[in-house]
Amino acid sequence: QPRVFSGIQPSGGLTLGNYLGAIKRFVQMQDSGIETLYCMVDLHAITVWQDPAKLRHATREICAAYIACGLDPERSILFNQSQVAEHAQLAWIFNCVARMGWLNRMTQFKDKAGKNRENASVGLFAYPNLMAADILIYHATHVPVGEDQKQHLELTRDIAAKFNNDFGVDFFPITEPVIEGTATRVMSLRDGSAKMSKSDPSDMSRINLTDDADTIAKKIRKARTDPEALPSEVAGLAERPEARNLVNICAALSDRTADEVLAEYGGRQFSEFKPMLADLAVDRLSPISSRMEELMRDTTEIDRILGAGADRARQIAAPILKQTYDIVGMIRS
Ligand code: TYM
Repeated sequence: QPRVFSGIQPSGGLTLGNYLGAIKRFVQMQDSGIETLYCMVDLHAITVWQDPAKLRHATREICAAYIACGLDPERSILFNQSQVAEHAQLAWIFNCVARMGWLNRMTQFKDKAGKNRENASVGLFAYPNLMAADILIYHATHVPVGEDQKQHLELTRDIAAKFNNDFGVDFFPITEPVIEGTATRVMSLRDGSAKMSKSDPSDMSRINLTDDADTIAKKIRKARTDPEALPSEVAGLAERPEARNLVNICAALSDRTADEVLAEYGGRQFSEFKPMLADLAVDRLSPISSRMEELMRDTTEIDRILGAGADRARQIAAPILKQTYDIVGMIRS
């Protein structure tokens, strides 16, 4: 029986990358009738320093974004990670399953720790083990994510397989990453070789879900491009990362393929394409940001949704943790 789990870190505002690469897909999976759990992974966020008030705000804002984008707290289980203690409990077991060598190869750790690895938190190093626990504590089978999470999901599979093998059980499922569509890697608007990210120092590099219409239009107008006209097929975008990015964003926002977009805009200049893309982005994003703003006015209601979601999540997680403890040899009396 399929079960979907995914999560987003409340480590800042949400970007167009989070929306197109993750949340939009979350909604599609919910609407296809599969059981879905979507988390705000606050324990992951604190692997780098977070101001407590900002962490609370960002956690609620993701919940508001989930709902504004079409997740329904009745149909999907929405909750923040720290309210379901089983995540951290299973992560400890996985700390004892995963190998240092596996974690040493994680590119996200290398990027985030930078040159000063000695000064990175232990949590940042063990981050992928907690992520595996998030998924496997629900025996989730499918995990929708953007391209950047692929390596972490491979590690999740390795952990599940090693646990099963070490204890001679067939207990944890080998999870399928779901990395599909035209927006699995939305790039920076300033640099076609860097991912659009909430942590990029330049706000012009990204579109935030909370940006107003003028800001969105300005950022798209100023997005870096080359001087050529658009090609009429995707193959023509191969050496043009900035152009490809804008075409992919357009495709994802309008639920078309990149080739369909180019069939319409091939031969046209960016001076025509960009205003159209700006209008499209404003049209799709402004209902989301205004709904988010409304929802954020009642944080009591958001916190209630998170608490209720956590109760439902725990119902699934608690028996799986108990079985794990039994397999490992922990006495429960
Ligand atoms: P995070 O918080 O960095 O990003 C959340 C989701 O958004 C996707 N994403 C993007 N997709 C396309 N283009 C982009 N520029 C872009 N930027 C972000 C990410 O791929 C992700 O799907 N480790 C995870 C959070 C996590 C998690 C989990 C995910 C913790 N436990 C369990 C799935 C399952 C992370 O840092 O995502």
